[in-house]
Amino acid sequence: MELKTLLLCLTALPLTTAETVLGVYIFHRHGDRSSKSLPPVNLTSLGADQVFQSGNFYRERYVMSNASAPIHGLSTDIAVPSQLNVLSPSDAVLQSSSLAFLQGVYPPAGSLSVSTLANSSEVEAPLGGYQYVPVTSSSTASTSTNAESSEWLQGGSGCGNAVVSSNNYFQSAEYLSTLSSTKPFYSNLSPIIGGLFGSSAATFKNAYTIFDYINVGRIHNSSIPSDDLLTDDTVFQLRTLADNHEWNLAYNESDSIRAVAGATLAAQILQQLNSTLTGKGATPVSVQFGAYASFMSFFGLAQLHKVSENFTGVVDYASSMVFELVTNATTISKTSYPAASDVSVRFLMANGTAAQNPLTAYPLFGQSDVLLPWTTFASEMNKFAIGDTTAWCQACGNTTGVCASSTASSSSGDDGSSTTAASTSGNGISLPVAGVIGALVTLVVILGLEGLVYALAGLKLVKKSTLASLGAAGAASSATADAKA
Ligand SMILES: *[C@@H]1O[C@H](CO)[C@@H](O)[C@H](O)[C@H]1NC(C)=O
Ligand SMILES: *[C@@H]1O[C@H](CO)[C@@H](O)[C@H](O)[C@H]1NC(C)=O
Ligand SMILES: *[C@@H]1O[C@H](CO)[C@@H](O)[C@H](O)[C@H]1NC(C)=O
Ligand SMILES: *[C@@H]1O[C@H](CO)[C@@H](O)[C@H](O)[C@H]1NC(C)=O
Ligand SMILES: *[C@@H]1O[C@H](CO)[C@@H](O)[C@H](O)[C@H]1NC(C)=O
Ligand SMILES: *[C@@H]1O[C@H](CO)[C@@H](O)[C@H](O)[C@H]1NC(C)=O
Ligand SMILES: *[C@@H]1O[C@H](CO)[C@@H](O)[C@H](O)[C@H]1NC(C)=O
Ligand SMILES: *[C@@H]1O[C@H](CO)[C@@H](O)[C@H](O)[C@H]1NC(C)=O
Ligand SMILES: *[C@@H]1O[C@H](CO)[C@@H](O)[C@H](O)[C@H]1NC(C)=O
Ligand SMILES: *[C@@H]1O[C@H](CO)[C@@H](O)[C@H](O)[C@H]1NC(C)=O
Repeated sequence: MELKTLLLCLTALPLTTAETVLGVYIFHRHGDRSSKSLPPVNLTSLGADQVFQSGNFYRERYVMSNASAPIHGLSTDIAVPSQLNVLSPSDAVLQSSSLAFLQGVYPPAGSLSVSTLANSSEVEAPLGGYQYVPVTSSSTASTSTNAESSEWLQGGSGCGNAVVSSNNYFQSAEYLSTLSSTKPFYSNLSPIIGGLFGSSAATFKNAYTIFDYINVGRIHNSSIPSDDLLTDDTVFQLRTLADNHEWNLAYNESDSIRAVAGATLAAQILQQLNSTLTGKGATPVSVQFGAYASFMSFFGLAQLHKVSENFTGVVDYASSMVFELVTNATTISKTSYPAASDVSVRFLMANGTAAQNPLTAYPLFGQSDVLLPWTTFASEMNKFAIGDTTAWCQACGNTTGVCASSTASSSSGDDGSSTTAASTSGNGISLPVAGVIGALVTLVVILGLEGLVYALAGLKLVKKSTLASLGAAGAASSATADAKA
């Protein structure tokens, strides 16, 4: 009897624990915030709680020692900055969201943060052992579309062809017909929105900002939900009109450059997951905060709107999408890390904070399986990913600013080449480690790696600040374009 039970356990174990998560890329929306119509926009306490709870959800899924799908090699209680790659645009709402999220992933370490000094007195870090995880500010030309302060999708993209493409939407027959058929609907709302949107502004042209103002009011302003004008039907229509407006600005099947935000995000995801693999799990966790528009562009490019019409709607606050790198390989270590052919990718999405909404797997790229071999995933992503400055300049039709210098030094200093540098040195270093040279050498190697990380970080910082200043110029000029449209 007992032997039978034991045998059952032994056979059951490999099946249930067969799959190992090697790494993840999480793309996250900010939590509840104040209205875009009343700047400065800020994260609210409710919003901080939503992203914090999401962080705690991912802690229970991936990080804790008893996590449901633990990430191989990831520190469980003490945050190790080199294992975490966290990006957020330099935008108050998104930066604050990323910090609240990290507080959930690695909460204060308490007694684990206590260190004993030479004179044997003990010191605990402030705020109960609060942990510090650096958040890189991602204000490159290609990611600044994410900023909450940006009025509309391409407002900060600086991508010439994408701005032209999105502006074309405002000339399309579809837009013009909705604009005229919804005139009475929006003007009827003037008792609520009249203070901010005069009769010329209270139209479908501002579908998202009007929806946003009312949505924020329904959450925070006790006199708005009780307003007789706001029936369930009206609220639903406000939301679906805004969804339609934003979807069409973010993606157009026959005009792919409109989805440039999703294309650059796809490249970031692919490059980072690839470096998790080539670095044999050195940096297994990546998290990026960004706006709903990037979700929509990516959904369109990945054909998710064909899985469900839900994907054409604006995702709720604190939504997240996750790309899991998983394997069934049994022995995983630095010396026998799974080959790319043994690795698969699973896409999951939670609409709203993952703590309260199910994290569900969906099939990408019109395929039927939710689990894709890494090579299939990579080749499908590469069909639309825009991964370096040269490709971006070409796709956007930009030739000046950052693009003038990128053509001059096309193969140095872009994201592609820094990934290569990281992975080759990773490979070069892993060999002597395998040769059991001893603790001292290992220490030297670790210090060397850190130096490399800092060197690369330095390189990236230089590049990003250059792009940022150019991106700011781009934002200014496309804001003018918006005013004309
Ligand atoms: C956040 O924004 C709201 C509305 O604009 C404002 O009333 C509030 O004072 C702001 N809070 C902070 C902390 O800035
Ligand atoms: C995991 O461990 C924590 C304490 O470390 C405990 O509070 C929690 O209930 C455990 N969860 C499960 C699912 O066992
Ligand atoms: C121990 O050393 C720390 C740091 O130098 C100092 O702040 C503290 O006062 C010392 N404690 C005692 C009991 O001397
Ligand atoms: C999508 O792009 C096509 C080709 O540029 C254009 O004819 C059509 O009007 C666009 N649709 C929308 C809704 O922007
Ligand atoms: C709350 O709603 C009322 C009625 O629409 C409006 O007059 C007031 O300005 C709103 N308050 C805020 C802080 O938005
Ligand atoms: C679409 O959303 C509805 C309502 O939230 C939900 O019932 C349905 O399951 C969703 N469909 C998919 C494919 O997720
Ligand atoms: C998320 O929920 C909103 C409604 O709150 C809906 O409009 C949207 O379609 C949903 N998106 C997905 C991907 O389920
Ligand atoms: C691992 O094996 C299980 C059981 O055969 C299977 O369902 C799962 O899809 C496999 N996972 C991967 C990543 O191959
Ligand atoms: C992953 O990185 C390696 C080394 O830089 C490179 O050779 C390979 O092409 C990359 N794979 C993908 C799918 O990007
Ligand atoms: C790209 O070109 C557009 C149109 O000429 C311009 O408005 C934008 O600022 C440029 N972007 C960058 C990053 O140079």
